[in-house]
Amino acid sequence: MIMKFAGPALAVALSIGAMASVAMAAGAPADLVKERQDEMKTNSDTMKALLGILKGDKPYDAATVKGMSDGIAASFDKMWKDGVWDTSTQSITTENKAKPEIWSDAAGFEKARKDAMDALAALGASTDLAGMKAALPKLGAACKGCHETYRQPEN
Ligand code: HEC
Repeated sequence: MIMKFAGPALAVALSIGAMASVAMAAGAPADLVKERQDEMKTNSDTMKALLGILKGDKPYDAATVKGMSDGIAASFDKMWKDGVWDTSTQSITTENKAKPEIWSDAAGFEKARKDAMDALAALGASTDLAGMKAALPKLGAACKGCHETYRQPEN
């Protein structure tokens, strides 16, 4: 019915709109790969700082631990929101360790993301060193669990 009034002009406008929203949902493939690797590296640094607290290199402080776990969770939210796992990133063939299983087993990949978010929430909710000691290994396992299936090993 709309077509009757607006005709081809509207169809063109709609398809341009669709193209623009795709472009906005995901950046250039190389930028997306860089973003996810940079975020992962930052998260890895935060993990090391958390381990330092666990080992007693730094004094335990619940608010600091919560800040760090919230920071990693925010990074994950940002990556997924920015579409860093867009299928277009498969075109990047150098320094890209994402395995095709990310797309062929999207449900499993989503579960791996959720496992990490759950572990982060538990870590953030811990209120003493004993709680942190129980929660941090689960987060480590969630990182490793995803990498084992969805990331190529280091060469
Ligand atoms: C849902 C899956 C998933 C989870 C959970 C996950 N990662 Fe990753 N990670 C990946 C994938 C896939 C890559 C490969 C990305 C690439 O090469 O573009 C990666 C890459 C990395 C890298 C290498 C970055 C680089 O320089 O190339 C580090 C370090 C890393 N992750 C740390 C972590 C840490 C720490 C956690 C837990 C807090 C974590 N990851 C959780 C999927 C995940």
